[in-house]
Amino acid sequence: MPRRPYVVASAAMSVDGYLDDGDVTRLLLSNDADFDRVDDVRASCDAILVGAETIRRDDPRLLVRSSLRRQARVAAGRPANPWKVTLTGSGDLDPNAAFFTAGEAGRIVYAAGGTAGSLTDRLGDLAVVVDLGERLDLSALLADLWVRGIRRLLVEGGSRIHTEFLTAGLVDELHLVVAPFFVGDPDGTRFVGAGTFPHGPDQRMRLAEVRQIGDVVLARYLLAAADHFWLREAIELSRLCPRTESAYAVGAVIVDAEGRELARGYSRETDPNDHAEEVALSRVPPGDPRLATATLYSSLEPCTSRASRPRPCAELTLAAGIRRVVIAWREPALFVDCHGVEQLREAGAEVVEIPELAPLVREINAHLFTADR
Ligand SMILES: NC(=O)c1ccc[n+]([C@@H]2O[C@H](COP(=O)([O-])OP(=O)(O)OC[C@H]3O[C@@H](n4cnc5c(N)ncnc54)[C@H](OP(=O)(O)O)[C@@H]3O)[C@@H](O)[C@H]2O)c1
Ligand SMILES: [Zn+2]
Repeated sequence: MPRRPYVVASAAMSVDGYLDDGDVTRLLLSNDADFDRVDDVRASCDAILVGAETIRRDDPRLLVRSSLRRQARVAAGRPANPWKVTLTGSGDLDPNAAFFTAGEAGRIVYAAGGTAGSLTDRLGDLAVVVDLGERLDLSALLADLWVRGIRRLLVEGGSRIHTEFLTAGLVDELHLVVAPFFVGDPDGTRFVGAGTFPHGPDQRMRLAEVRQIGDVVLARYLLAAADHFWLREAIELSRLCPRTESAYAVGAVIVDAEGRELARGYSRETDPNDHAEEVALSRVPPGDPRLATATLYSSLEPCTSRASRPRPCAELTLAAGIRRVVIAWREPALFVDCHGVEQLREAGAEVVEIPELAPLVREINAHLFTADR
């Protein structure tokens, strides 16, 4: 299962859900203060992706406007601007578009349907063209971005792009701005088209933040994909555990309600008796108000009894005030009988299990299950 960047989807829409009207000129939905906020989000990302139709219609530059933000990126050892990324099945991209000509930035075009060859000829040094075969698979696109060092991707639309990323369950965070007017144009473009979305009426997104920015409203949602992303992060972390035949390799990450990492830790990280959750918890100051709404991601079920230290991890988690835990694998009865999930739930915490990631945790701990142990 390849890794992928954290994906933030961002859009501004009218009250009646339009990204644009049917007019050729670009419809301005946001205000200056919100454009500046988007600039800040851009500066926090490694790459910005838009669909080919947005390039053809809006000709966006996709650069970080603020020189201070660009300087801060450079000071942090990053390129001044994020990479620009697009995808096309038709190959209809103009080398004179601002996407290719504006600013110093790396550019990647993901091409499908046999258009890569001619695009490479036409674009020359302007962009890296990646051939993704006959049908472009977004997971393959994200896996390729990961390999290129992209860890945080901003998806800026348009409609078809948002629809595809959201229905594929590949968006971790959604930033939706509502502008205070109606469009009502039958030829306009709606935020998303029809499809099967992972968040229907029965699975509401988690509302992370609501902010008034002048006359527009920003709503920030965390999607189920974010749980998958952070749990995967915890699992990958567990690969760093010093190996032993007598205990699991576990990774844990604590993330606040805004989707920001508070701490991480792995088994035996600072001492042979360390448990991952314990290490991560020790790195957040006790009583930190963010803990009450934070989520603990652990590759393995938090323990309820342990030989090495007096307080098991389920107890430590509850004592820290954490009320949401996401795990991949229930601890098999190998060393002790664990009831972490039950204990956490009985205490009123929400426990989410993502069993499709459990085989990865088992694989990392495969040495514990060999016959000669
Ligand atoms: N308000 C906002 O926040 C905002 C932001 C961005 C855009 N917009 C608006 O959104 C509108 C554009 O939206 P849109 O839905 O028409 O287009 P879009 O999502 O920008 O781009 C769609 C195009 O991307 C390519 N593409 C998408 N998925 C693909 C796949 N799986 N494989 C290969 N190519 C793929 C195709 O390009 P080819 O046609 O080349 O094959 C497709 O036509 C514009 O009016 C723009 O103003 C608004
Ligand atoms: Zn433990």
